Amino acid sequence: MPANETLGAITSRRSTRAYKPDPIPEDILSDILKAGQAAPYVAPDSRRFSVLRDRRLITRLSEAAKEQGIKLGDFQREMFSAPGFDGTYGAPVVVILSGNPETVQYEAVCAASVQNMLIAAQSLGVASCWAYFPVFAFHGTDAEAWRTELRIPQEYRPCAAVLLGYAAAEPYAQAGERYRNAVDYV
Ligand SMILES: Cc1cc2nc3c(=O)[nH]c(=O)nc-3n(C[C@H](O)[C@H](O)[C@H](O)COP(=O)(O)O)c2cc1C
Repeated sequence: MPANETLGAITSRRSTRAYKPDPIPEDILSDILKAGQAAPYVAPDSRRFSVLRDRRLITRLSEAAKEQGIKLGDFQREMFSAPGFDGTYGAPVVVILSGNPETVQYEAVCAASVQNMLIAAQSLGVASCWAYFPVFAFHGTDAEAWRTELRIPQEYRPCAAVLLGYAAAEPYAQAGERYRNAVDYV
């Protein structure tokens, strides 16, 4: 049994890969975004958050990501070209994290925010998945158009995404598969 609620949220979280279309209430989403901004940073402007709540926009982004991701190799081509594949899994909310490369370790700064949001979501009963997939949309020649549409300034680099919503299926992974990393107490 986890020793407290925070540990419970951390240890019970799993990536969800099927979402209901139901929206996340404003106040809950706002709390998740606050948790993201509460994460440590190198400089206050090292990161920014783009919150996508229009499922049609998310679907377009997912299709653009698929188109670029397919070019990466056989594994991605096989997975992404499966009929009906959507790497955002129908999530009603996608948050894109963009970091400022002028600040050192901007990807680590964004990662800290992602993890805070995942834990906050879990504690609020919202399912989530850390996903690089949507960022593939920024790998291609349409990157500039996406940047403009999502209002991401030139100097920021999209580097991570969080999918949020209510689960339509159980997570793939089972809790028992955890705690297998090497841990050396020296
Ligand atoms: C940097 C990073 C990128 C990830 N990108 C994806 C992704 O694009 N799609 C996906 O379904 N899961 C993605 N994941 C989630 C991992 O697959 C997942 O966390 C891992 O399998 C462990 O499962 P759990 O989150 O249920 O504990 C990503 C995780 C990390 C840390």
